[in-house]
Amino acid sequence: MSNGLNGKVALVTGGTGGIGSAICIKLAQAGCKVVSTYMDEAQANDWKAKMAAAGFDMAIVKCDVSNFDDCKAMGDKLNADFGGVDVLVNNAGITKDGTFRKMGPDQWNAVLDVNLVSVFNVTKQVIDGMLNKGWGRVINISSINGQKGQFGQTNYAAAKAGMHGFSMSLAQETAKKGITVNSISPGYIGTEMVMAIPEDVRNQIVAQIPVGRLGKPEEIAALVTFLASEDGAFITGANIAANGGQHMC
Ligand code: CAA
Repeated sequence: MSNGLNGKVALVTGGTGGIGSAICIKLAQAGCKVVSTYMDEAQANDWKAKMAAAGFDMAIVKCDVSNFDDCKAMGDKLNADFGGVDVLVNNAGITKDGTFRKMGPDQWNAVLDVNLVSVFNVTKQVIDGMLNKGWGRVINISSINGQKGQFGQTNYAAAKAGMHGFSMSLAQETAKKGITVNSISPGYIGTEMVMAIPEDVRNQIVAQIPVGRLGKPEEIAALVTFLASEDGAFITGANIAANGGQHMC
């Protein structure tokens, strides 16, 4: 039975990172031609080589997703090289944690730009192509902390909650045209971003997760691939939590 993803072009922003790499691999295994954005050329070439050694032919494209002109240039290149994008995973994200009283405009703007403004910048480049084809998937990687808030993350939680507002609205605008738009809200996943939390704070967080462990990147990637597939066609405007029971709503 086909999952409908064979030959589809998937763009994963920040695909060379922890959750991103797992998403790229699962989509490639499902038959997609996968393209990841990158910022650091040496790191991206290294990633591409590691993927090739594991049997995956990933494409990479340099793009600062917080910059609209950069995204426009990337969109033009993807149209020329691959005939557009069928599956977009807005996954690129950063943290700059700090209590609100200590947070400066740079810390606020950087997180809003990379995590939320990027969703406008990148989706804008691919949506017309999806509308023309009458098929598309936009999957936004939000966060548990966009649903419940988090001490030290006014910037990140605002951006992540904003991503889901975007998903619901675009889902309504495109549902009749064969496009689904959804958010996934991962909990704490065992990636570099989470391992950067001070150990004592991280241990307190893990203690609040009913399943008793951090999540795995592959568990988020499986959900992305399901939403991208034909089996996910009736799900749109949803925000699907994968957080080990840490937050239930
Ligand atoms: N709840 C209540 N109070 C807290 C608290 C919490 N969770 N964490 C710290 N505090 C209190 C401290 O006890 C201390 O109180 P006193 O002043 O009375 O002693 C005070 O807040 C410390 O305030 P500071 O401004 O000095 O904060 P700090 O410099 O010690 O660090 C922080 C604050 C950077 C936010 C740190 O707590 C931290 O790193 N927290 C983790 C934030 C987090 O979960 N980030 C997630 C990153 S991963 C991710 O985002 C992926 C995803 O999607 C899930």
